[in-house]
Amino acid sequence: MNFDKEIFLTKLAQTSPAPFLIPVEKAEGIYLYSPEGKRYTDLISGIGVSIVGHRHPRVIEAIKRQLDKHLHVMVYGEYIQSASNLLAERLTRLLPAHLNCCYFVNSGTEANEGALKLAKRYTGRTEIISCRRSYHGSTHGSLSVSGNEIKKQAFRPLLPDVKFINFDDLEDIRQITERTACVIMETIQGDAGVRIPSREFLQAVRIRCNDTGTILILDEIQCGMGRTGKLFAFEHFGIAPDILTIAKGFGGGLPIGAFISDRKIMETLTHDPMLGHITTFGGNPVCCASALATLTVLEEENLIGQVEDKGKLFEKYLKHPSIRELRRIGLLLAVDFDSAERVSAIVNNCKERGVICYWFLSHPYSFRIAPPLTITSEQIKESCEVILDAINKS
Ligand SMILES: Cc1ncc(COP(=O)(O)O)c(C=O)c1O
Repeated sequence: MNFDKEIFLTKLAQTSPAPFLIPVEKAEGIYLYSPEGKRYTDLISGIGVSIVGHRHPRVIEAIKRQLDKHLHVMVYGEYIQSASNLLAERLTRLLPAHLNCCYFVNSGTEANEGALKLAKRYTGRTEIISCRRSYHGSTHGSLSVSGNEIKKQAFRPLLPDVKFINFDDLEDIRQITERTACVIMETIQGDAGVRIPSREFLQAVRIRCNDTGTILILDEIQCGMGRTGKLFAFEHFGIAPDILTIAKGFGGGLPIGAFISDRKIMETLTHDPMLGHITTFGGNPVCCASALATLTVLEEENLIGQVEDKGKLFEKYLKHPSIRELRRIGLLLAVDFDSAERVSAIVNNCKERGVICYWFLSHPYSFRIAPPLTITSEQIKESCEVILDAINKS
């Protein structure tokens, strides 16, 4: 084993000047363990991934079963593989009838890249509308439709013909026209600090897209897979997208994403040009087996049914005069303070005490809480006691 900090800092590319630097030897359930045996409560699920906890036994068993059959055998879309067949069959059974065709990819950002290409190809249009403060990923296309100007500036030129509207602003919807190939938005804005739109807004977007022949892409990479108390967040709003993108929690700890649409839309990627989107590792059988087992756990252990009550518990315990606002849907929470420095101090203090909360990319005044859905009432109580103590001491 090697947990050498110097090697980590010099031989591995760094993404920020101040990484979190927790050495992890093992993870189980909602806990991570350092080589010295320090236990950390993971209240962020590795940023929305470990939705059924770390190393859920049924997920591990499914991965092992697949390991004994085969690993990668061919690029996406050529061989018939049971793992991807089973996953596509299950996933489309859980979705509205028109979301019946899945393209499996490797990550969230690739799911959005595929969705944007598909919308342009299907409509023959070029304009893309996204929302201010959104986050859709870090590759060129997804970065182009992300709202954080500071993160984009150094990488221009990015995709042309991208327009931004305000999230949850009914007036701005008029900017969607017959020129617009697609609107891409997070159903719940995650990295903007958990922004929950009104039902009226999302329904109006849906209607405007129908009226103008515009494809609606909903990015549920962070808010999907039961996180909000429904398998997909759009179910709260009485609408459905034309293309859905998922990743993160979908794989239960292994890397897999998907963009999903009606077959008649998806099949435009097979001609003019054929191979409209290709990926070597997309639909990797081990990742598909893990994703299928994760869906089984979500369905059979009634985890989603408990999300709202568990979310309410966080709200009940996290009462403190310094908290400016707490925004929550299901088990996705943003806790606001009056300065980024205060948030930083609290997050670091929690870490010292073995509880992991974390920042948002585009909203420094809050920290996030998004634990595995398997967290128990007792674990919520214990974690909140630590957080409150950290707030007092920061
Ligand atoms: C809403 C949303 N979309 C897309 C992404 C990008 O996913 P990935 O990091 O897997 O590329 C993220 C990641 O945080 C996200 O939160």
